[in-house]
Amino acid sequence: MSEQPVSVAIVGMGTVGTGAARVLVEQPERIARRAGRPVRLKHAVVRDVKKSRGIELPAGVLTTDFARVVRDPEVQIALLLVGGLHPGREMTLELLESGKDIVTANKALLCEFGGELFARARELGRTIAFEAAVAGGIPIINTVSQCLAANQITSIAAILNGTSNYILTQMIGENWPYRQALAQAQSLGYAEEDPTLDIDGTDAAQKLVILTQLAFGVKAQLTEFPRKGIDTLELSDLKYAGELGYTVKLLAVARLIAGQLEMHVQPTLVRHHTPLAEIRGPFNAIALVGDVVGETWYSGPGAGQMPTASSVVADLIDTIAGRTRLTFPRLEVWRDPPPYAVQPREKTSSRFYLRFNVLDQPHVLADIADILGRNHISIASVIQHEAAGSDNADRRTVPLVIMTHRTTVGNLESAERELSRLQSITPPHVRMPVAD
Ligand code: NAP
Ligand code: HSE
Repeated sequence: MSEQPVSVAIVGMGTVGTGAARVLVEQPERIARRAGRPVRLKHAVVRDVKKSRGIELPAGVLTTDFARVVRDPEVQIALLLVGGLHPGREMTLELLESGKDIVTANKALLCEFGGELFARARELGRTIAFEAAVAGGIPIINTVSQCLAANQITSIAAILNGTSNYILTQMIGENWPYRQALAQAQSLGYAEEDPTLDIDGTDAAQKLVILTQLAFGVKAQLTEFPRKGIDTLELSDLKYAGELGYTVKLLAVARLIAGQLEMHVQPTLVRHHTPLAEIRGPFNAIALVGDVVGETWYSGPGAGQMPTASSVVADLIDTIAGRTRLTFPRLEVWRDPPPYAVQPREKTSSRFYLRFNVLDQPHVLADIADILGRNHISIASVIQHEAAGSDNADRRTVPLVIMTHRTTVGNLESAERELSRLQSITPPHVRMPVAD
């Protein structure tokens, strides 16, 4: 082992940056042994040096001066742990230009600007490692790009947003209102700075884009596939799904179907007691099928300070030890032309859970069944609970839940256009696929 320390900077000392710093400060011997050299944390860049961070750093390390890192020729590796697109993109480019290798957890940045940043890093002979960008503490990037390199991946079905999974778990398990569960996810450090990205499905979709690049060689745009979050769900939907034998999960799916790539992120009914249904709290899980290995499963903490720091510091060790230098140039980030087209949304097929709010009066169910039937949608089961204490039942709105047999999104959308014209149905209308 060399005694010459490698100097490192952390840019962004929030939840993840502080976790990474803690590992470096608390485990210097372990890191040095595995990296082959001691690591010196030389700079930690923040916006506000007065903020309490719960970690003691040597005097002079904390700074607001990003340029100090760029100018410092001793710093060889920067842990880029700020969120969002800007100034993350500009910072990454400056760091690469000044000769630093990058480790990042920022999936938004890689989803949007990964092409540009990877190309520039390769031109400059630098590396970008990003294990923490997908599924927090689960080593899925290295698994897909290296450990399963003998395979053509054929299917990914995954829970990729810890915040949403935590909210769903607390709502159904503890009867918490949605707002309380979200606030707690924020205070525990799971959520993004803008938590809208967690709950509207964007964060999971960004991670799916990154996995899809590595697994299928396809760089999909966020706008190319359906994306829905948990923000449109009500507790009643989780309960109705439970009555039907399912747990609701925000599922990210990419799989090969008839030579095309089916992709979507949406709340999905997963049968009780299956592995994905059992993933609780901020945990993530990925079910991955390869043509050589068959089905494999990965699960673990998908968000939070120390799980994410685990992946960040592993990337740092790989970069110091020289492994990233071997793997990064050969990463199949995508192929040109793309080997698979993204399947048009309307062709996607599954069984569906539908919830309508309907007036509890004659012929309503018959009208809905008629429209579904004419659009080739067969009903598998129906739940409508009797409205309590009703003298005036024909004025009352009640939830009507319908499970369909397998049909296409195209058929459903055509039916929904007709259903929206019925006076007896009031919004919102909830639709979730069933993962069978
Ligand atoms: P965070 O808690 O909001 O921390 C962001 C840090 O960046 C803060 O220390 C902030 O400084 C600093 N910062 C922001 N803009 C800056 C600028 N212009 N110049 C200098 N410093 C700046 O975020 P986080 O949760 O640690 O997440 C960081 C990244 O990791 C994000 O891309 C996120 O998506 C990703 N990630 C997070 C998790 C998780 O569980 N939290 C898991 C996996 C991946 P101040 O502290 O002074 O405000
Ligand atoms: N906000 C993200 C989540 C952090 O909740 O999954 C991990 O990427």
